[in-house]
Amino acid sequence: METLVVDHPLVAHKLTALRDVRTDSPTFRRLADELVTLLAYEATRDVRITDVTVETPVAPAHGVRLAKPHPLVVPILRAGLGMLDGMTRLLPTAEVGFLGMIRNESTLQAETYATRLPDDLSGRQCFVVDPMLATGGTLAAAVRFLFDRGAVDVTAICLLAAPEGLAYMDKVFAGSGKPVRVVTAALDERLNENGYIVPGLGDAGDRLYGVV
Ligand code: URA
Repeated sequence: METLVVDHPLVAHKLTALRDVRTDSPTFRRLADELVTLLAYEATRDVRITDVTVETPVAPAHGVRLAKPHPLVVPILRAGLGMLDGMTRLLPTAEVGFLGMIRNESTLQAETYATRLPDDLSGRQCFVVDPMLATGGTLAAAVRFLFDRGAVDVTAICLLAAPEGLAYMDKVFAGSGKPVRVVTAALDERLNENGYIVPGLGDAGDRLYGVV
């Protein structure tokens, strides 16, 4: 499994403001959106393209277009929704599938409660968005779900990652022959006893949408 920690001063600046406990929900949503766009720029570096020729007002020009089928963006509900607009801004022709997964807070295992995705993902590049890669249980289950439906490669975009989550993803997918990438703004220190990323930014869903 490949991991890319995006090293860019704008990413670091926005992430610092996102972590700040004093940042209110509207600002948090805006910053998450801006951060995703920057991460998506790196995450889509290998998006599949096809050669085309267009006519400029002057002469034919060789260029590229996104290859079909266009990518599928999959936010993991609920917190992943806060990253969707940032993705579709860069990939407006992408389709969007939804995966509802929740972490059982006692077992810390991922449970699926909703799926709205094409049945057949053959030939698809998929981009999963979920702000926090903590234990890796939810992300690994989501990625496995997409490969089971035929996805050719899966890139996960996370605002933050814990070493434990990356190690788990590596354990699950190393040697599987499946192309999996994680793109994140930072690799934090560790998980605490409640499964929160330290220093992290708290509960991403609550900070985006309030405590429900
Ligand atoms: N999910 C969150 O929202 N925050 C964490 O720190 C870990 C998992």
